[in-house]
Formats: sequence, C-alpha cells, structure tokens
Amino acid sequence: MKSLALENLSKTYFDPYRGTQLTAIKDVSLNVKEGDFVAVVGPSGCGKSTILNMIAGFVPVTSGRILVDGREVKGPGPDRGVVFQSHALFPWKTVAENVTFGPKMRGVGKQERAKIAEEYLALAGLSHAADQYPAELSGGMQQRVGVVRALANNPDVLLMDEPFASVDAQTRMTLQEELTRIWEERRPTVVFITHDVSEAVFLANRVVVLSKGLVLEKVEIPLARPRSWERLVEDDKFKALSNQVLQLVRSA
Ligand SMILES: Nc1ncnc2c1ncn2[C@@H]1O[C@H](COP(=O)(O)OP(=O)(O)OP(=O)(O)O)[C@@H](O)[C@H]1O
Ligand SMILES: [Mg+2]
Repeated sequence: MKSLALENLSKTYFDPYRGTQLTAIKDVSLNVKEGDFVAVVGPSGCGKSTILNMIAGFVPVTSGRILVDGREVKGPGPDRGVVFQSHALFPWKTVAENVTFGPKMRGVGKQERAKIAEEYLALAGLSHAADQYPAELSGGMQQRVGVVRALANNPDVLLMDEPFASVDAQTRMTLQEELTRIWEERRPTVVFITHDVSEAVFLANRVVVLSKGLVLEKVEIPLARPRSWERLVEDDKFKALSNQVLQLVRSA
C-alpha cells in the first residue's frame, strides 16, 4: 500500500459554450499516509469528483502535482483502483468473472483467478453469487461486487466516489460496515468521496471539508476501531464529530 500526496493542486475547466474558464479546484494540498482512510465531503459542485478524477488520472491537472508513493501521476494506472456511484459491472460476465477481470487483463492464470474470486467474494459475503450475472443481483450486491472488483486488483490506492449513494439506507449501513471491516483487515490507502457527513465520520480517520474548490478544514476522527453502527449510533464522540463536520459543510 502506498502514500498519496496532492501538492498545490488546481483545476480549471474551459467552458466551450461560454468561452470562459471555471476554476473547480484551487491550490489543494493533502497528504494521505500509507494505509490511511481519508473522506472528502462538501456541497454539490465543490469539486469532490474533480479531485478524485485527477488522482485517478482521468482528468489532467491544471497546476500542482499528485504523487503516489513519490511518483507523479501522469494518467490512469493499476496502482489506483476506482469505484464509482454506478458500479458499471460487465452485464455479460458472471460475478466471479467481473471480480477477476483486472487480474485476467494482467495475465493472471485461470487457477490463480479462481483463488482470487473465492477470496474476494468471501470478503464481501458474495460467495453464493459467484456464478450469477449482475442483473440477477440487488443494487447493494452489485455495489459490493464493484468494491471487491476494485480490491481484487490489489491497488495501492482505492478511490471511491459516492459508491453507496444509490442504495437504500439499510443496505448502505451494511456496506459501510463491510468496507470498514475490509479496510481494517487489508489497510489499503483510501480516498472516499461522499456528501453524507455521518458516512464520512463513520468510515474515515480524517475528513476533509471542501468548499468551492478550497480545503475549508481537515477534521481528525479519533474513533476507536473496529467500528460498527450498533456501537457508534449512540456514541457521544461520534455525534459531536458528525455535528462539527455538518456545521462546516453547511458553512461551506
Ligand atoms: N468536464 C467538465 N467540464 C467543465 N466543467 C466541469 C467538468 N466537470 C466538472 N465541472 C465543474 O467543476 C465544478 C466541480 O464539479 P465536481 O463534479 O468536481 O463537483 P462535486 O463536488 O463532485 O459535485 P457533486 O456532489 O454534485 O458530485 C462544478 O462547477 C462543475 O460544473
Ligand atoms: Mg461528484
């Protein structure tokens, strides 16, 4: 697992219809230590996805640098795994084939792939669904396949952009607990984008509040692990931290 550094990052988009420039990210610096879990929150349009897409290498930076373990990001790469809100699974492939797609592309053999599928599907509680097709699964299950598909590539950095936004509240809490468990077990370096404050506080070690492309505040989340909703829902420290972040987002 690798560290991640954003150094004075800025992003300006050109609007070809109006012929104007729009500054989406302004001088953002952030250090994410190896094996750390950082959440980024902020109102719609504040630049969360732009930051994630630049780290992923999908969107070029206007100025500043992104370093993964000291090496500058120049484009997408297998060292960074990405999970989006829409899981974008291959509908014609089974769950197991979806999960092992990355390893297959890298030339990993059939036997080894079977092992990877077994391991990662067990991690997500999806062993029973290995031979099913995405359309046969619930939205929450599809989302879990999306998460372990990214993990199966063994990325150094896991980038997640509102991965649980489209599932119901109950499933969402289960997915949050599963992600925490997986992270506590594997310790990938994670950047998790969400506009859900309690989700950010529940999952992360640190919450970055973004406002109009600027870092408004970084809030440490020193809650004990392992974390579960059963324990945290009534926890005073959790409530206080959630309130603090919520006030910041409201003022953003
Ligand atoms: N490809 C693009 N071309 C031009 N402008 C863009 C592009 N992508 C994003 N923007 C603009 O950059 C700003 C930040 O957008 P971004 O998608 O990063 O916000 P966000 O925080 O992820 O919002 P949301 O919570 O709604 O997903 C917005 O003003 C948006 O209109
Ligand atoms: Mg977004």
